[in-house]
Amino acid sequence: MPRKKIVAGNWKMNKTYEEGLALVSALKNASRPESVWMIVTPPALLTREVSSMLKEQNQLSVAAQNCHQETSGAYTGEISAPMLRAAGAELVIIGHSERRQYFGEDNALLLSKVRQALAHDLQPIFCMGEPLEIREAGTHLEYVKNQLEKSVFQLAESDFKKIILAYEPIWAIGTGKTAQPEQAQEMHQAIRSWIVEKYNTETANDTSILYGGSCKPANAKDLFSLPDVDGGLIGGASLKADDFLAIAHSF
Ligand code: 13P
Repeated sequence: MPRKKIVAGNWKMNKTYEEGLALVSALKNASRPESVWMIVTPPALLTREVSSMLKEQNQLSVAAQNCHQETSGAYTGEISAPMLRAAGAELVIIGHSERRQYFGEDNALLLSKVRQALAHDLQPIFCMGEPLEIREAGTHLEYVKNQLEKSVFQLAESDFKKIILAYEPIWAIGTGKTAQPEQAQEMHQAIRSWIVEKYNTETANDTSILYGGSCKPANAKDLFSLPDVDGGLIGGASLKADDFLAIAHSF
């Protein structure tokens, strides 16, 4: 998929049905930048309704926050990729640090989730990023490279080309502490260079790599103007239509 400008909002476990639909309705009716693909990621209970609200909308899509690695079966409480696809989800976030941290999802499991999503026509937004102690130890590049090698770098090039990557340093998520532009650029450039090594330059240049972690209207411009940052995966600031739109207008 050719590289795009993307602003994806990850609502996490926020918004009731009515609150969520009000937010989507505000985004739908607002003036949005034509060149930016905006993605909302509500809790799965809202997927179907949001998807029908967004039919015919240009550059405004609905994603899911997670999917199970199996197609169906006795997995109480879980949601499958085909269910999400049937409900209208176009993409799915896989590998968010909160899933890794609180639900014990490791690289091998995440790879099977990515394969499952692709098999059911859901485009993965694959997340990676280091915790604070790794950043402080200065081994963040090796850490993130290992996350990639053990997961999505196992994919054939034709499948890898379908995914969107998101670098989210854990120490920046929900902390108000954004990565400095040079820290984000260092990592994004490194990720792109590893894609060149693993696949090739064309694939690397076509891969959209988003930054996530306390991205907000005040810092989005600085981040999005970096050569290897193609947009943002936004948590807290995606819960308010005005902030999310202001971020989308920051390219
Ligand atoms: P915040 O923007 O709230 O820091 O969250 C980032 C994130 O985790 C998006 O997936």
